[in-house]
Amino acid sequence: MAKPSSKSVSTKSGAPRINIGISDKDRAAIAQGLSRLLADTYTLYLTTHNFHWNVTGPMFNTLHTMFMAQYTELWNAVDPVAERIRSLGHVAPGSYAQFGQLTSLPDVPAQPPKATEMIRILVEGHEAVARTARELFPLADKASDEPTADLLTQRLTVHEQTAWMLRSLLED
Ligand SMILES: [Fe+2]
Repeated sequence: MAKPSSKSVSTKSGAPRINIGISDKDRAAIAQGLSRLLADTYTLYLTTHNFHWNVTGPMFNTLHTMFMAQYTELWNAVDPVAERIRSLGHVAPGSYAQFGQLTSLPDVPAQPPKATEMIRILVEGHEAVARTARELFPLADKASDEPTADLLTQRLTVHEQTAWMLRSLLED
């Protein structure tokens, strides 16, 4: 049997040091990228839930229901992202202050915008999250971090499809 590498020695706490075949530097960089994805996803979740509550106008029924499906999907998505950060040995951010610092999305407008403006904000939000996920992909790939690459692929599929569907509502 191969001798365990020096990197697998126990830490002070008694737990063995994380040794999954990804360097400390790459784990830290991937966790940082996933933290940005988590903050973006959470911010877009909150915006979408807010719009579910505050949408008005002739499209009320359609949008109220559509936004519910979308915020539910986003709410379920934050958990696997946070837990991947933990699996990489890092702490998952989970406060409004941290999310505010990490996210690439603007906060929800204080005054509810008109329905078409809500749709436009959500198109841009989904595309912004897609960019954050895509930016991280080369690093996950380089580090042979397949679970992160798989997660990013799943999130990209959802965000790009949702952006298309929302954009279609604004087109003639
Ligand atoms: Fe509701």
